[in-house]
Amino acid sequence: MSYIEVRHNFKKYQTGDTEILANNDVNFTVEQGELAIILGASGAGKSTILNILGGMDTNTSGDVIIDGQNIAQYNKRQLTTYRRNDIGFVFQFYNLIQNLTAKENVELASEIVKDALDPVQTLIDVGLQTRINNFPAELSGGEQQRVAIARAIAKNPKILLCDEPTGALDYETGKSVLQIIADMSRKKGATVIIVTHNSTIAPIADRVIHFHDGQVTQIEHNPQPEAIANVKW
Ligand SMILES: Nc1ncnc2c1ncn2[C@@H]1O[C@H](COP(=O)(O)OP(=O)(O)O)[C@@H](O)[C@H]1O
Ligand SMILES: [Mg+2]
Repeated sequence: MSYIEVRHNFKKYQTGDTEILANNDVNFTVEQGELAIILGASGAGKSTILNILGGMDTNTSGDVIIDGQNIAQYNKRQLTTYRRNDIGFVFQFYNLIQNLTAKENVELASEIVKDALDPVQTLIDVGLQTRINNFPAELSGGEQQRVAIARAIAKNPKILLCDEPTGALDYETGKSVLQIIADMSRKKGATVIIVTHNSTIAPIADRVIHFHDGQVTQIEHNPQPEAIANVKW
């Protein structure tokens, strides 16, 4: 059995008379410690599956097995516990709390879990040693995303989920952010899933899951993933 198994996952949205199948029988697996990329055009259903994997949304039907537990069967309380203890989530637009400093944003996440990493050390690890007491508005986009990554990794999550983490960043900043995320898998052994529409970053992953129109169209394995330094986009 794989660490993550998505089986016959369906997600239906109803808006008035229109029904959208954002996930239309999605099937894939991810092994523990892997770096996986979910790749596909806008509207393909990538965020939908990532939110379901992170316990932030529920599916319409299907199984979502995480380390042997079917989270699709969890109630609200179980999902909250799962989200809190097991998941780190990085959003495209950072989602920082504006009236808290970088350190306070990270503390807010680390305070709610048992085996949290030190917030200040985590900010130092993502290269923000000189920005620890700054507010989000005082930081560049790349710096804000690094605070958001620090917030996610300070929880020492088993699974790190990133939705278009470099989507709002310039090229060089995007690369360094991607490196920090990849290191969570390569150095810390976390299972990492990155959602992106950018096919040029796919070679850095162990596994690339192609999405199109709510379905998985192809799954590729890279036995020898490319170093981020060697990838250009
Ligand atoms: N809350 C929602 N209500 C209605 N439709 C939605 C909602 N969220 C997403 N969708 C639709 O589901 C489809 C997949 O969306 P999404 O998973 O966000 O795609 P992606 O992340 O690949 O761009 C799109 O057609 C989108 O418009
Ligand atoms: Mg999306």
